[in-house]
Amino acid sequence: MDSKSIRKKFLTFFESKSHKIVPSAPIVVQNDPTLMFTNAGMNQFKDYFLGNKVAESKRVSDTQKCLRVSGKHNDLEEVGIDTYHHTMFEMLGNWSFGDYFKQEAIDWAWELLTKEFKLPEDRFYATIFEGDSSENLDQDTEAKKIWMQYLPEDRVLNGNKKDNFWEMGDTGPCGPCSELHIDLRPQSEVDKVPGKDLVNQDHPQVVEVWNLVFIQYNRLSNGSLENLPEKHVDTGMGFERLAMAIQGKQSNYDSDVFQPLIQWVAKKAGVDYGKDEKTDIAIRVISDHIRAIAFTIADGQLPSNNKAGYVIRRILRRAVRYGYTFLNFKGPFLYQLLDILVDQFEGVFPELTSQKDFIAKVIREEELSFLRTLDNGLKKLDTITSGKAKVIEGSTAFELYDTYGFPLDLTALIARENGMEVDESGFQKEMEVQKNRSKSAGKQTTGDWMMVHEGDETVFVGYAETQATTKALRYREVKQKDKTQYQIVLESTPFYAESGGQVGDTGYLQFGEEKVEVIDTKKENDLIVHFVKKLPSSLESDVRAVVNESKRRLTENNHSATHLLHAALRQVLGDHVQQKGSLVNDKILRFDFSHFAKMTDEEIAEVERIVNQKIRENIALDEKKNVPIDEAQRMGAMALFGEKYGDFVRVITFDSDYSVELCGGTHVLRTGNIGLFKIVSEGSSAAGVRRIEAVTSVAAEKYYQQKLELISELEEMLKHPKDLKKTIENLVKENLANQKKIDEMNSQQAGQIKNQLKNEAKEVNGKKLILYKGEFPSADAMKQVAFDLKREVDNLVLLIAANIDGKPMLTVMLADELVKNGMNANEIIRKMASAIKGGGGGQPFYATAGGKDISGLDEALKLGKEMVEAS
Ligand code: ALA
Repeated sequence: MDSKSIRKKFLTFFESKSHKIVPSAPIVVQNDPTLMFTNAGMNQFKDYFLGNKVAESKRVSDTQKCLRVSGKHNDLEEVGIDTYHHTMFEMLGNWSFGDYFKQEAIDWAWELLTKEFKLPEDRFYATIFEGDSSENLDQDTEAKKIWMQYLPEDRVLNGNKKDNFWEMGDTGPCGPCSELHIDLRPQSEVDKVPGKDLVNQDHPQVVEVWNLVFIQYNRLSNGSLENLPEKHVDTGMGFERLAMAIQGKQSNYDSDVFQPLIQWVAKKAGVDYGKDEKTDIAIRVISDHIRAIAFTIADGQLPSNNKAGYVIRRILRRAVRYGYTFLNFKGPFLYQLLDILVDQFEGVFPELTSQKDFIAKVIREEELSFLRTLDNGLKKLDTITSGKAKVIEGSTAFELYDTYGFPLDLTALIARENGMEVDESGFQKEMEVQKNRSKSAGKQTTGDWMMVHEGDETVFVGYAETQATTKALRYREVKQKDKTQYQIVLESTPFYAESGGQVGDTGYLQFGEEKVEVIDTKKENDLIVHFVKKLPSSLESDVRAVVNESKRRLTENNHSATHLLHAALRQVLGDHVQQKGSLVNDKILRFDFSHFAKMTDEEIAEVERIVNQKIRENIALDEKKNVPIDEAQRMGAMALFGEKYGDFVRVITFDSDYSVELCGGTHVLRTGNIGLFKIVSEGSSAAGVRRIEAVTSVAAEKYYQQKLELISELEEMLKHPKDLKKTIENLVKENLANQKKIDEMNSQQAGQIKNQLKNEAKEVNGKKLILYKGEFPSADAMKQVAFDLKREVDNLVLLIAANIDGKPMLTVMLADELVKNGMNANEIIRKMASAIKGGGGGQPFYATAGGKDISGLDEALKLGKEMVEAS
């Protein structure tokens, strides 16, 4: 059975058990401060487990794109070295939100694997949670009993907290779990060593395929467990491992999920896969990593220097370096794998297909930029690893990181390959120093929620209102360095929480007589969190929530203008334009989009013209809430991959033939409110991504006003000429002519100085020494004199201490023969420069310096002369 059919069969099976099949959430997580990437199928359902939100369907199933390269679940080190861990993988899952529990979860898992997929029953082992006294948790005898309906007792094994109590992260939903392991070894080996001795022992053919978690608790930040209101099922099966098992392979990479990638890489490298462990590992690393890289970029995360972006950059660089060192790939190659990936996921993850060119372009640029420094970095590492040292110093690892772009794990990997270690704490110290230098924000500690009133989900009323009377539901404290802030959740709120690029609202909350200022509003999963500097003395009373209205209106102008801009860009530049990010506040709008060339002035003008035309058309806002996603697509809505949408979306239309977008933001009621639109800059923001910044309404007016004032000032300065442009053109022309005359005069003067100096050359130790102290017309003239003399005087040593328009400048010029014999202009200039409180340098034969102390010119010359005489 090929992998496409396997995936399909899994989903149809659960559909037949009344599960609703839902799309995968984006692999890049939005709005959850505890997580960068989706690391399990259940992430998107976190709020259903916690009881923050009620699920529309109590049974769902999907295949989820996951990435386990940071935080609690991190497999990066194993990837490629072994044959069954991955960075990006698909997790097939089924969920019950307070519906069925252990019996059905286990029954169905068994039925699907042994009856539908026909995997051999006698090759399975189940593990169950053995209990943990420190947590006050009992053994999961219930799961054990159910498993024993299918398996003999000696194939139901106990597991400890590490293996059989699943937690999403440091906090959040969790519970005991029961794993299914399969033994894929040949019978001869099974006869020798029983599979049960190899379960959870990192054996490549005795692997966990499915994890059934019985979610019952919430781990709080103080480490304790809290019972959840209901019991849930959360399962996750490794799709790639399942494919290996069903296809009778020994390695995930031998299944049809990876073979096309593996074969392409092997062919390009001119090697056979399966012949040499070193090249095999490199081929596996590359075939694995390209998936992580492509999917995260498709979901909107570009490689960058911090957070999630840096994780992607690290993975990409790891792949490039493996190719470079072990497969002799000296140019970019990863991007060429996109065709194969797109082929494989056709019809499963359309975001890959629709953005293929863009993703390839981003990857190629990243590869090129890393390859530029990789060689130098590797050479540097080479000299270290070939020496006697056993440890790579922290400072060296940091230099490799900072200057050559080597992520620490890459340096550590190369160190390991050479039997060395990296002083990681030394590296971290250097990092700290740099961080402190750039005054990065300190770590923050977030307290647990304290409940005020019953209720969980906040109702957002801010599309229609900017004020509301409501109640506080919960609050908590957040400490950062010496600053303490508080977060409050309300039952309903007019405050828009930052998302989709639009900033969070500010304003105030009035509790009785007491007003607390809201400095920001953010989303945390589905909670709308108000950030305040202090708490009121009591949160019990009703609260009046009031949004800063003028700021909100200006922000809305910019947000609606962003939609008009997006549509105009597609008209002018083409359909490949896709939003890649945006920032909308009360002052400016910033819009990032995929496009490969700098926009011309004409294109920019045309985009501005169209947007302003749409503003003047005064188009009414058409807002549709709760539109099923497929209907929204039929309406022509531009979907933003990488944003998390439920089954129902909000569609914002300004003229159904012009702009239809999925959007949760707030908007003007009519485009006329925007008033005026002006692009103030266009540039590159990343490979294949352009960035436009623009202003609207009052800010746009101000922009034009300032330009007009500038023109008035120029007219004033030039005494109100009839034709301003012509007058300035003439001035520029005159200025150029004058400059030319001055240059000629300087050059003549330099010629005179040169002739004079040539006659003053003195023999010292077989060198022709020329000293000059005095005025020089310009630095260029001084340079010209130095180079002319070098050509005309053999064995020249020229020292100049010049006064150029009141500033001290030094020059040293040496004949090539003298340099060959060991003289160095840099050394002489450094010494001389100390006398004029300055510094400089250059090449061994020619160096210059500037300084602050003109009174030191004589001394400078004296110091230089002494050095020459001593040499
Ligand atoms: N959430 C469980 C896991 O990731 C199924 O293993």
